[in-house]
Amino acid sequence: MDEQPDYRPRSDAEPTVTTDCVPIWIVVLALVLLFLGAYYFDLRSGWFDTRIYSPYRTPDQLATYQPQSGAAALAARGRTVYESVCGLCHGSDGLGKPGQVPPLAGSDWVAKDMVSLARVPLAGLNGPIKVSGKDWNLAMAPMGAGLSDTELAAVLTYIRTSWGNQSGACDESDMKSVRAAVNGNGPSAVDLAKMSPPDRGHIVFKKYGCFQCHGPDGKGGVSNFNAKTAEQVPSLIYVADGYNKAELLAFISRGERVIPRKNPNGPEPPHFMPKWGGIVTTNELSDLADFLFSLKPKGDKLDF
Ligand code: HEC
Ligand code: HEC
Repeated sequence: MDEQPDYRPRSDAEPTVTTDCVPIWIVVLALVLLFLGAYYFDLRSGWFDTRIYSPYRTPDQLATYQPQSGAAALAARGRTVYESVCGLCHGSDGLGKPGQVPPLAGSDWVAKDMVSLARVPLAGLNGPIKVSGKDWNLAMAPMGAGLSDTELAAVLTYIRTSWGNQSGACDESDMKSVRAAVNGNGPSAVDLAKMSPPDRGHIVFKKYGCFQCHGPDGKGGVSNFNAKTAEQVPSLIYVADGYNKAELLAFISRGERVIPRKNPNGPEPPHFMPKWGGIVTTNELSDLADFLFSLKPKGDKLDF
C-alpha cells in the first residue's frame, strides 16, 4: 500500500498554496442575487417610480395613453400639432424668441375671443401689433391653413390652457365658420382640378401667405433688417435660374431658420423662411413650384 502524502505543515516548511473548488452555495447565492436584482430593476424601469412598469419609461409617456375626455383630450392632441407646426417658432415653452417671434404664454391675443384667435393661424398676421403691452412688427404666415378643423381647435385649446394660460377650450364648429370667413368664395375642389398647375400654385401662394414676406405675387419682399439679401426678403421671380424643381421643393419644405447677416456682428434679421414641410401638402408644393417658375419675366434672355 502506498503511503499517503503528508500535508500537515511542518514547522520548518514554507506555507504552500493548494487548489480547491468554490463552494457551490456561493455560486447559487450569486445567481439568486443577480436574478432578484434584475427583477427589481425591471419592475422599476421608470427610474424607480413604482407607478411605471416596463415597457413605459416616463410618467409623461404613460399619460399619453390614459383615456381622456373633453378639453383634456383635445389639449393632448393639440400638443402634438403644436410641436410639429407652431413650436419651431413659438417654442415648446410658449415663450417665443426675442426680436423674432412673440410669446404665447401670457399673451392677450391667446385670451381673445375664438374668432379673433383662430384668424391668426388661418389668415396669418402682419404687424405692427402689441402683445401684452410690448410692440412687435413682424409677419406670421397662415401656418395653420393646412390643419383640419379638429386639429385647429385642438392646437388652440392647447395654447389657451398651457404655460399658465387659463382661457376656455375651443370648439370645432367655431373653426368652420372662421375658416369660411377667411377663405371667402375660394375656388371649389372641382374648379381647382380644372386649373393649370401654375394657376393652382398661385392660389396656394395666397393661401399660405407667402406674399406676406415675398410681396404680392412674389415680386418683391418686405424689408429684413441686417439680412445679407439687400436687407430684404428676396423676391421670387428668378428662382427658375437658381433651382430645379426638386431643389426648390426641398428648399421650401426645409425653410431657412438662420438668415445670413449683412453685418456679422449685427442682430439676427427678424424674418426667416418658415419650414413648410408637413404644412403645405405634396400636391400643393408641386403646384407652388410651377407657379414660381412661371414668374420669370418672358423675353428676359440676356441675348443682346
Ligand atoms: C414661422 C414662425 C411661426 C410659426 C410656425 C407660427 N407662428 Fe405664430 N407668430 C409668428 C410671428 C412672427 C408672430 C408676430 C406677427 C406680427 O408681428 O404681426 C406670430 C404671432 C402669433 C400670435 C399673436 C401674437 C401672440 O404672441 O400671441 C398667435 C396667437 C400665434 N402667432 C399663434 C400661432 C399658432 C397657433 C401657430 C401654429 C398653428 C403659430 N403661431 C405658428 C411666427 C410663427
Ligand atoms: C415670414 C416670412 C416668410 C414667409 C411667410 C415665406 N418666406 Fe420664403 N423666404 C423668407 C426669407 C427671409 C428668405 C431668404 C432666405 C435666405 O436668405 O437664405 C426666403 C427665401 C425663399 C426662397 C428662396 C429664394 C432664393 O432666391 O433663393 C423661396 C423659393 C421661398 N422663400 C419661397 C416661399 C414660399 C413658397 C412661401 C409660402 C409657402 C414662403 N417663401 C413664405 C421669408 C419668408
